[in-house]
Amino acid sequence: MYFIISILLLTILLPLTILYIQFRQRFSFWKKKGIPGPEPSFPLGTLTYYFNKTVAEAEDELAHKFGTMVGMFDAGDPVLLVSDPKMIQEVCVSKFSSFMGVKAFSYAHIFHDMLLFKEGSDWKKQRSLINPVFTTSKIKALHKEMSVCGQRLTTYLDKCIVNGNNELKAPDFAVLFTLDVISRLTFSTEIEPYPREDGKEDNFSFYAKRFTTNVSHLTYITLLMLPEWINNILSLNPFDHKSTNFFTQLSVSLVDKYSQLKQESGEKSSGKKTKQLVELMLENMEKKDVLSNVVLIFIAGFETTTTLLSFLMYILSQHPEIQETLVEELNSVEIENENYIEALMKLDYLEAVVQEALRMYPPVVNWDRVASEDVTFDCGLSIPARTIIRVPVYHIQHNKENYPDPEVFDPQRFLPGNIENNLKSFIHLPFVEGPRVCLGKYLALLEVKCFLYYVLPKFVIKKSPKAPVPMVFEKSVKVLKSTDGYVILEKRK
Ligand code: HEM
Repeated sequence: MYFIISILLLTILLPLTILYIQFRQRFSFWKKKGIPGPEPSFPLGTLTYYFNKTVAEAEDELAHKFGTMVGMFDAGDPVLLVSDPKMIQEVCVSKFSSFMGVKAFSYAHIFHDMLLFKEGSDWKKQRSLINPVFTTSKIKALHKEMSVCGQRLTTYLDKCIVNGNNELKAPDFAVLFTLDVISRLTFSTEIEPYPREDGKEDNFSFYAKRFTTNVSHLTYITLLMLPEWINNILSLNPFDHKSTNFFTQLSVSLVDKYSQLKQESGEKSSGKKTKQLVELMLENMEKKDVLSNVVLIFIAGFETTTTLLSFLMYILSQHPEIQETLVEELNSVEIENENYIEALMKLDYLEAVVQEALRMYPPVVNWDRVASEDVTFDCGLSIPARTIIRVPVYHIQHNKENYPDPEVFDPQRFLPGNIENNLKSFIHLPFVEGPRVCLGKYLALLEVKCFLYYVLPKFVIKKSPKAPVPMVFEKSVKVLKSTDGYVILEKRK
């Protein structure tokens, strides 16, 4: 009996003790370099600072306390929280070739071939294949789809008002629009995201909403803690499993359908005028890569855009004067004119409002880059390969050294002239900068502007007594979300 207990203790305690000693040694990493930071503890490192707070609040506090470089640890991995614009420029642009890495997770199978998780030359190759699918001209060609989605949204909002249900949570109706757009775009599927008479929801909408709400924080933390080789064996998935399966199956059938069509026609084109996203991707990418990236585009484009729209609705309800200026500008664009998208993208005040919303409420509150080789920054700091650089976007965009009165919503900051004269480079980072900029940046801006174009001239967005001031954020992983973004809708006269 004693023998068995001793063996058990040895097999559990010995590896733990070795790990503990290893971690203690690693924890001196930043101290040796003279970089300040919070005290790490075994086994989570400084991840505990993210508990009981939103990621945005935790990083804002840490950067205020320790400065522009904060030494942290994701479990035993060194992380440098960087808010110095010059260093961010190096990471994104001038030393980008040394920062083509991302944090190595090994999620479930479908995530393996996603662009977001590719590194180095693999990333470069895949990005160059997928970039042509997202050119501005290809996105602009979506104008008909956008107007169908815009009209469906306003019809729904009209109905809500007629039924006396005009106090709505902004995320609840923003999500209907983004679902409508993204399902058509990525899955070439016309869904019915709007509530049906029978109260039932279609599968697509049901699983899409579950995908973003049922995220397992425990699994996510476990992924951060485990070494890469264990992650590779376990292939954990923090996202909702049923939703992952649903969208994987949908992608498989879609990719199969278009591959067959391509084979049958014996040429690259299926002969139609407007090609579907999957068709365009199949023109120059392997089937397995298309499969993963269809799911990625859906995930990356759905929640982020919904979040931005929700904050915009909240902001405009709190600032009627800004709303009115915006409506005046939007009215200058002729509805349904063939070139309305082009005209919309050129509106200065609209652009300024959207950019200021992205500053105050960046949907992605931080992003990481991993050094693929040893790097020495211009300031003299050297870091070894595999060090993680984390950019606290929310903190940078709320720092009064970068933006005077950062808690005031002021679109003037982003009007032409003011940007060049008053704003430093690399302090506005909602989509990242440089070659690894968000793939869907233009699409997201277009979607948001179309939403405002259809909604604002028809409805006045008013303040709801249920909406918290200031905004309260949900404690979630990376994506900033509001808890009670209520607004009141009234028909505009
Ligand atoms: C307001 C909306 C959006 C915001 C704020 C946003 C933000 C971001 C950020 C911060 C990243 C870098 C993430 C990282 O490296 O950890 C990213 C990457 C990416 N985004 Fe977006 N995004 C938005 C909408 C979209 C849309 C609509 C799409 C759909 C096409 C999209 C597709 C992607 C893809 C594919 C990547 C990976 C790019 C790469 O690694 O090369 N995003 N986005």
